Amino acid sequence: MALSTLTQLSNLISQSVATLERISTETGIALPDLDNPNLAVESEVLRTNAAAIEAARVIAAAGLQLAALTMPPKDYVFEVVFGAHLAASLRVCVEANATEILRDAGPNGLHADKIAEKSHIDGGKLARIMRHLASHHIYREVAPDTFANNRLSATLDTEKPVAELFSDPDNKHTGTSDAFPAAAAWTLDLWSKAACNLWETLKDPEAGFSNEAIDSTWHRTLGINVPFHRWFEQPPQRKLRTLFGIAIKGYAEMNPPSTILDAFPWASLPKGAVVVDVGGGIGSAALLLAQKHPHLRVIVQDLPESWEVQFPEVNQSGQVTFEGHDFFTPQPVHNASVFFLRYIVHNWSDPYARKILTHLRGAATRDTTLVVVDHILPYACPQETIPPDVAALSEALDTAAPPLLPNFGAANALGHSLDTLTFPQMLVNLNAQERNIGHLKQLLESCGWKLQQVVRIEGSSGFYQPLRAVPA
Ligand SMILES: C[S@@+](CC[C@H](N)C(=O)[O-])C[C@H]1O[C@@H](n2cnc3c(N)ncnc32)[C@H](O)[C@@H]1O
Repeated sequence: MALSTLTQLSNLISQSVATLERISTETGIALPDLDNPNLAVESEVLRTNAAAIEAARVIAAAGLQLAALTMPPKDYVFEVVFGAHLAASLRVCVEANATEILRDAGPNGLHADKIAEKSHIDGGKLARIMRHLASHHIYREVAPDTFANNRLSATLDTEKPVAELFSDPDNKHTGTSDAFPAAAAWTLDLWSKAACNLWETLKDPEAGFSNEAIDSTWHRTLGINVPFHRWFEQPPQRKLRTLFGIAIKGYAEMNPPSTILDAFPWASLPKGAVVVDVGGGIGSAALLLAQKHPHLRVIVQDLPESWEVQFPEVNQSGQVTFEGHDFFTPQPVHNASVFFLRYIVHNWSDPYARKILTHLRGAATRDTTLVVVDHILPYACPQETIPPDVAALSEALDTAAPPLLPNFGAANALGHSLDTLTFPQMLVNLNAQERNIGHLKQLLESCGWKLQQVVRIEGSSGFYQPLRAVPA
């Protein structure tokens, strides 16, 4: 007799939990504990071992699918309807430095009145906001109106002294060892402000069909009429610009360093080989690469007028140099072994992405490789409905067996969130997009590049896998 979906999902969870427990026993590394705010990666088996990461992903996918299957449908849909409210609650806690205050309070937590006092906000209201989050497992209500950090809320800890956060709020995220809190703060603030107006933009007969960045929902909502990165050049945006640079580092660090280090066989390049980090921002990818491979010469290119290099090593070290360059103009480096683009192609609609890739193709030698690191969006439909040539290209991407959605559903939807959904950034803010592999292949081919390989990076979140292309 065929098993019900409910039983299949429950079996998947039981089997994968058994795998996690076995690996935990064998390695002596603990299982996760939601109440424990100690985030040291090495302290959790499901973040350190490839088989455990795999099992954890199945558990999360099946668990979230079970919720979709078993919650009253209208309640489930309303959880999505209220998604913006949950994000707004989280923003209050981030801006009020609740996590850092609770870090000092320890496991017994602190009454919401005391947390609120430092930001001069209403303690009763903050308690309701924190309970909303605690009900979604972010913070723990240890006694009525008294909250403590847990495994999830601790991710927002800048690790700075609370007194410093309140005396120097503009530099809250500067110089932190973990840039994730900056990514959360940035996304909850500027990136989220326009999301609810997506429909109005899509319905607009002109903006809805436009590929121009300035026709994004974000531009229209905030009344900004220059491209996002140009808007950043303006002196009043200095604080946001600094935060953005750190936030990008935070997004990137959600994936293991191997996303960069295994994207290409860097060690195989000869001494002095040139790697160009195109649109390299504050140079966080370039620095990682340079530190691991001292034989490479890394050039970080970005708009000179709009970007502050925050890591002095980028300028001081002879190995990594910073070069002002607009990637919509011809590429000046003609001897690059690798053109490296992380979080670049996804920022632009096809006509613009084509200009960038075409300029790089124009400067490529026969031996140049193009490495693109963006999310590769998987379909949510059954595998057998995907055209075979596209499916073949997707082989390096992880696929779940039924009854799970092939893309692991809500447990693996970060790329989709970045693209259009929960925080519809690319579509809402930049009028650009994350792409699926077929789309990327076509885009590359239209600029004279041949997609060579999608590189499988174990343990990378979502479908954030690098791809390599060579001159066609
Ligand atoms: C999302 S950030 C990615 C930064 C970096 N690649 C990383 O992964 O950390 C996009 C970068 O593109 C740069 N950018 C935007 N327009 C540009 C242009 N026309 N020429 C060069 N860089 C540009 C921005 O200044 C920003 O640093």
